[in-house]
Amino acid sequence: MSRPLVRISVTTAAPAEGYEIVIGPGVRGQLPSLVERRCAAHRYAVITDDHVERLYGAWLLRAMRAAGHRADVFAFPYGEARKSRETWSAVTDAMLESEMGRDSAVVALGGGVVGDLAGFVAATYMRGLPVVQVPTTLLAMIDASVGGKTGVNTPAGKNLVGAFWPPRLVIIDPELVATLPAAHRRAGLAEAVKHAAIADADHLRRIAETSSELLEAEPDVLCEIITRSIEIKSEIVSSDEREAGPRRALNFGHTVAHALEAAVGYRMLHGEAVAIGMVTEARIGERSGVTVAGTAAALRDVLRALGLPVSMPKDVSAGRILELARGDKKAREGRTEFVLLRAVGEVHPNGGRWSHTVPDEAVLSVLEETT
Ligand SMILES: NC(=O)c1ccc[n+]([C@@H]2O[C@H](COP(=O)([O-])OP(=O)(O)OC[C@H]3O[C@@H](n4cnc5c(N)ncnc54)[C@H](O)[C@@H]3O)[C@@H](O)[C@H]2O)c1
Ligand SMILES: [Zn+2]
Repeated sequence: MSRPLVRISVTTAAPAEGYEIVIGPGVRGQLPSLVERRCAAHRYAVITDDHVERLYGAWLLRAMRAAGHRADVFAFPYGEARKSRETWSAVTDAMLESEMGRDSAVVALGGGVVGDLAGFVAATYMRGLPVVQVPTTLLAMIDASVGGKTGVNTPAGKNLVGAFWPPRLVIIDPELVATLPAAHRRAGLAEAVKHAAIADADHLRRIAETSSELLEAEPDVLCEIITRSIEIKSEIVSSDEREAGPRRALNFGHTVAHALEAAVGYRMLHGEAVAIGMVTEARIGERSGVTVAGTAAALRDVLRALGLPVSMPKDVSAGRILELARGDKKAREGRTEFVLLRAVGEVHPNGGRWSHTVPDEAVLSVLEETT
């Protein structure tokens, strides 16, 4: 029996470019017909990594071809290091070689690395092909597949070359999470906690209540949590597509997280760094008198229940984190900028700036306590 699907419409600055996100356990079975309806094309380039290709590549090709679509797979080796200009050119060249024309479309099948890379290939191939995002990691389902950001890393930093390229359609099947390693499931859930922290205290309660089912990848519970997270993110993104205002709230926990990831040489999953970052930044907010006391503890408890780390690794110094956080693009001299909560479920808007400059001494004293 087929279960009901959730559909979320995302509006963009150009209304004609709004797109639909379809979520439901087993929805992958409807992929060929959804693609036909929302993104008809002469040919399809299924872009994926070699790991996801082994798991789901043959299935997708068979399903597309059985429905009469012309589809070919373009796979690249898995891993963040491959989200590069080199991979962009290799995939683009392979598509040119196989004579994919302007009337083609891209299907991005994979985690955030594939979504960003394939989205950027789509944004640039013959000045732009439509793209269907089919996220396969929890992080990509909850976060990366919504908002239209695409791009690649360069030696100078992550995500420095890219484009806003909203998808034509996003298809999310929570059953695909079953094959995802447990550490990656936990890391994806950190972003769901972030959405709850900035916008919806009830969402945080549901995540806490359902933490064991979430960790076991129970599809109906995953569906509920992914759906609410996407509603929150897409509402924020629709109101501020180019990141000028409210969209900054999505950076909660991320000033510290990015500094921490750099400090450990990216030997930590992004969601793990975000978990530590959220607890730390909630404490910074409490110390600054912006955030209601008890907020950091509430977030910490839920993150712990999800098996995520909540304090700084012992071998990372507070001074180093501060130095790296200052290097963050949001930093000012002698003070660092943070998105701060008012309470669980609410960001402090600070007169429409959506961030606060906090003196270094206050940041350092919190960082020293949390290591
Ligand atoms: N565009 C955005 O708005 C946005 C937002 C957040 C993160 N990102 C980007 O996302 C990337 C991280 O994404 P990620 O965590 O999904 O990493 P990832 O894409 O590297 O996936 C993690 C690993 O899981 C494997 N995998 C994927 N799906 C699987 C499945 N169903 N079963 C088993 N294994 C599977 C992949 O092959 C890979 O080895 C970063 O590059 C980050 O910058 C982008
Ligand atoms: Zn993040």
